[in-house]
Amino acid sequence: MTKPQIPLEELRAQVQACQRCPLAEGRTNVVFGDGNPQARVMFIGEAPGKNEDLQGVPFVGAAGKYLDELLGFAGLRREEVYIANILKCRPPSNRDPRPEEIQLCTPYLREQTRTIDPEIIVTLGNFATKFVLKTDRGITGLHGQLHQAGKFKVFPVFHPAAALYDSSKKVALEDDFTTLGKFLVS
Ligand code: URA
Repeated sequence: MTKPQIPLEELRAQVQACQRCPLAEGRTNVVFGDGNPQARVMFIGEAPGKNEDLQGVPFVGAAGKYLDELLGFAGLRREEVYIANILKCRPPSNRDPRPEEIQLCTPYLREQTRTIDPEIIVTLGNFATKFVLKTDRGITGLHGQLHQAGKFKVFPVFHPAAALYDSSKKVALEDDFTTLGKFLVS
């Protein structure tokens, strides 16, 4: 028997009340996710940063502005995709997510993904890619190719923030988003 889907707004209310880990104490806002619940493409990032924590919306800082630009390479607009993160609360000083935080938080992401039921999941960077593909392989060897995780097609790309520090990643990211656009028309 298939599990019933939890409506997105019910799930949002659960996450907003979440106290499963100590990140709850430091948050200004939960960053649940944003975009079109009927999206063909769902993006999964790492964790909220300072701006996201303040606004309660994913990818609104510098990496988010670059993500908006990258969407254009795939012929996508932000309003038509859905964006979520591995963690729903900001880690202090933007440190990496810890394994126990990932373990406690990702049941929400799993439900969110089942409800949105996208055609393609685009994982942004190492944390999302390793979680979704259940692999230890790094993003450098995996990006720009379609993979399968259960019923979902998964397309890993570098994290947009990585390109802000290392401009050599920009070319790969822009090529990968162009490739993504081709999958969406075929
Ligand atoms: N980086 C992420 O991974 N997620 C955000 O929401 C913002 C920056």
